[in-house]
Amino acid sequence: MKKGKVVKFAALMFFVLVSFCFLSVTEGLAGKKKEKEQGGGTAVLTDKDCAKCHVQEPADVAKAGGAHKTKVGCIDCHEGHPPRVMEGVIPQCSKCHIGEKHFELEGCLKCHSNPHTPLQLKLAKGIKGPCLTCHESQGVDLDTHKSFHSTLGCTDCHNVHGEIPECFKCHKPHAPSQTVGDCGLCHDAHMPLMVAYNNEIPSKHCGACHEEEFNQLASSPAKHHELGCAECHKDKHKMVPECQDCHGLPHPETIMKKFPDCHTCHNSPHDLNRWGTAQASGKKK
Ligand code: HEC
Ligand code: HEC
Ligand code: HEC
Ligand code: HEC
Ligand code: HEC
Ligand code: HEC
Ligand code: HEC
Ligand code: HEC
Ligand code: HEC
Ligand code: HEC
Ligand code: HEC
Ligand code: HEC
Repeated sequence: MKKGKVVKFAALMFFVLVSFCFLSVTEGLAGKKKEKEQGGGTAVLTDKDCAKCHVQEPADVAKAGGAHKTKVGCIDCHEGHPPRVMEGVIPQCSKCHIGEKHFELEGCLKCHSNPHTPLQLKLAKGIKGPCLTCHESQGVDLDTHKSFHSTLGCTDCHNVHGEIPECFKCHKPHAPSQTVGDCGLCHDAHMPLMVAYNNEIPSKHCGACHEEEFNQLASSPAKHHELGCAECHKDKHKMVPECQDCHGLPHPETIMKKFPDCHTCHNSPHDLNRWGTAQASGKKK
C-alpha cells in the first residue's frame, strides 16, 4: 500500500511532463486516428499506455482478468483520464451489469474485491442471501427442512466458491468402517434430517446404529436373511412394512382369524421362526 503511494506520488510528479511528451508522441502515431474519430483536439491514450504509470492493475488483469480482460479494456471502465484524473474515472458496476437479480445486491466489491480479477472472490462467513440470487433451490431445501444446517450461512460450509466440503470436516462417521463417500447414501447436506436411501444400500450402514437387528438377521437361517434392511424398510428412515405387504394372506382365513398376529408363530422378521411353531407367549421381536 505504502509502496503504491510512493509510486503514485512519483508518478504525479512526472505527470504533466510525461503527459506532454507522451501525448506529443502519440499524436503523430496511433492517437491520430482515434482523435479523428472522436473529432476532438486532445490526444487519446490506449490501454497499453496505462501500464507506463500503473503497474499493479495491468498485472492483475493480465493474470486473472477474465472477461474484464477479454470483453472490456481499461478505458471502457476508466473514462476521461489522463491527462487529468477526472470525477467518474472509477466506474459503477451498474454501468455494465444490470437486469439480473444478482446485480441488485449491495457492495459488489465486498465479494469481487478486485475488479481487475473479478472471479477471485473473497467470501466472508455467514453469507446466504446473495448466494440465493443464483442458487435458489438450495435455499428452499434448507428452509423447508429445518435442521441445524439451516442456521448456518452458505459460506460457513462453502468458503471457497464452488468447493464442496466433506462431512468429515465437522462430523464423525456412525461406524469406523464408513467412508466419507457413504454419507450421501442417506443424507443430503441441505436437508440432513431427511434420511432417505435406495434399496441397494448395504445393511452394515443400518447396523451402525441397529446392532441387535443387524446381528439377529445376520445369524438367522430363515430366508429373510437374504434380504437387505432397505428391501423391507424402503426408501425412508423409520418406514416399517406390514408382513402382508409382501405375503398377502399366506394361511387359510380360519387360522388367521384365530391368530391374527403373525408374530405369534413366526417370532420377529429379523429372527424368523420359519417353521411357524406356535409360541404361546406371542413375543414380539
Ligand atoms: C502519465 C502517467 C499516467 C498514465 C499514462 C495513466 N495514469 Fe492513471 N493515474 C496517474 C496518476 C498520477 C494518478 C493519481 C494518483 C493518485 O491520485 O493517487 C492516477 C490515477 C488513476 C486512477 C485512480 C483515480 C482515483 O480517483 O482514485 C485510475 C482509475 C487510473 N489512474 C487509471 C488509468 C488508466 C485506465 C490509464 C490508461 C488509460 C491511466 N490511468 C494512465 C498517472 C497516470
Ligand atoms: C471492469 C471495469 C474495470 C476494468 C476493465 C479496469 N478497471 Fe481499474 N478499477 C475498476 C474499479 C471499479 C476500480 C475501483 C476499485 C476500488 O474501489 O477498490 C478500479 C481501480 C483502478 C485504479 C486505482 C487503484 C487504487 O488503488 O486507487 C487504477 C490505477 C486502475 N483501476 C487501473 C486500471 C488499468 C490500468 C486497467 C487496465 C489494465 C483497469 N484499471 C481495468 C474497474 C476496472
Ligand atoms: C465497462 C463495462 C463493465 C463494468 C463497469 C464492469 N464490468 Fe464486469 N463485465 C463486463 C463484461 C462485458 C463482462 C462479460 C459479461 C458477459 O460476457 O456477459 C463482465 C464480466 C464480469 C464478471 C465475470 C468475469 C468472467 O471472467 O466471467 C464479473 C464477476 C464481473 N464482471 C464483475 C464486475 C464488478 C464487480 C464490477 C464493478 C466493480 C464490474 N464487473 C464492472 C463489463 C463491465
Ligand atoms: C456475497 C458475494 C457477492 C456479492 C455481494 C456480489 N457478487 Fe457477483 N458473484 C458472486 C459469486 C459467488 C459469483 C459466481 C462466481 C463464479 O461463477 O465463479 C458471482 C458472479 C458474478 C458475475 C458473473 C456471473 C454473471 O451472472 O454474469 C458478475 C457479472 C457479478 N457477479 C457481478 C456482481 C455485481 C455487479 C455485484 C454488485 C451489484 C455483485 N456481483 C455482488 C458473489 C457476489
Ligand atoms: C452469479 C451467480 C452465482 C452466485 C451469486 C453464486 N454462485 Fe455458486 N455457482 C454459480 C455457477 C455458474 C456455478 C457453476 C455451475 C454449476 O455447477 O452449477 C456455481 C457453482 C457452485 C457450487 C458447486 C456446484 C457443484 O455442483 O459442484 C457451489 C457449492 C456453489 N456454487 C455455492 C455458492 C455459494 C455458497 C454462493 C454464495 C457465496 C454462490 N454459490 C453464489 C453461480 C453463482
Ligand atoms: C462446516 C461444518 C459442517 C459440515 C461440513 C457439515 N456439517 Fe452437519 N452439522 C454441523 C453442525 C455445527 C451441526 C450441529 C451440531 C452437531 O450436531 O454436531 C450439524 C448437524 C448435523 C446433523 C443434525 C442436524 C440437526 O438439526 O440435529 C446432521 C444429520 C448432519 N449435521 C449431517 C451432515 C452431513 C451428512 C454432512 C455432509 C453432507 C454435514 N453434516 C456437513 C456442521 C457441519
Ligand atoms: C452444512 C454445510 C453446508 C451448508 C450450510 C450449505 N451447503 Fe451446499 N453443500 C454442502 C455439501 C456437503 C454439498 C455436497 C452435496 C451433498 O452432500 O448433499 C453441497 C452442495 C451444494 C451445491 C451443489 C449442488 C447440490 O445441491 O448438490 C450447491 C450449488 C450448494 N451446495 C450451494 C449452497 C448454498 C447456496 C447454500 C446456502 C443457502 C449452501 N449450499 C449451504 C454443504 C453445505
Ligand atoms: C444408512 C443411512 C446413513 C448413513 C450412510 C449415514 N447416516 Fe448419518 N444418520 C442416519 C440416521 C437415520 C440419523 C438420525 C438418527 C436419529 O434419528 O437420531 C443420522 C444422524 C446423523 C447425524 C446427527 C447426529 C447423530 O449422530 O445422530 C450426523 C451428524 C450424521 N448422521 C452424520 C453422518 C455422516 C458424517 C455420515 C457419513 C459417514 C453419515 N451420517 C452416514 C443415517 C445415516
Ligand atoms: C445414526 C443412527 C441410525 C442409523 C444409521 C439408522 N438408524 Fe434407524 N433409528 C435410529 C434411531 C435413533 C431410531 C429411533 C429409535 C427409537 O425411537 O427408539 C431409529 C428407528 C428406526 C426404526 C423404527 C421406527 C419405528 O417407528 O419404530 C426402523 C425401522 C429403522 N430405524 C430402520 C433403519 C434402517 C433400515 C436403517 C438403514 C437404512 C437405519 N435405521 C439406520 C438410528 C439410526
Ligand atoms: C419386503 C417384503 C417382505 C416383508 C415385509 C416380509 N417378508 Fe417374509 N419373506 C419375504 C421374502 C422375499 C421371503 C423369501 C421367499 C422365498 O424365497 O420363497 C420371505 C420369507 C418368509 C418366510 C419363510 C422363511 C423361510 O426361511 O422359509 C416367513 C415365515 C416369512 N417370510 C414371514 C414373514 C413375516 C411374519 C413378516 C412380518 C413380520 C414378513 N415375512 C415380512 C419378504 C418379506
Ligand atoms: C423381511 C423384512 C425385514 C427385513 C429384511 C428387516 N426388517 Fe426390520 N422390521 C421389519 C418389520 C415388519 C418390522 C416391524 C416390527 C415387527 O414386525 O416385529 C421391523 C422392525 C424394525 C425395527 C423397529 C424395532 C423393532 O425391532 O421392532 C428396527 C430398528 C428394524 N426393523 C431394523 C432393521 C434393520 C437394521 C434391518 C437390517 C439389518 C432390518 N430391520 C431388516 C421387517 C424387516
Ligand atoms: C398359527 C401359527 C401361524 C400364524 C399366526 C402365521 N403363520 Fe405363517 N406359517 C405357519 C406355519 C406352521 C408355517 C409352515 C408351513 C409350511 O412349512 O408348510 C408357516 C409358513 C409361512 C410362510 C412360508 C410359506 C411357504 O410357502 O414357504 C410364510 C411366508 C408365512 N408363514 C407368513 C405368515 C404371515 C405373513 C403371517 C401373518 C399374516 C403368518 N404367517 C401367520 C404358522 C403360522
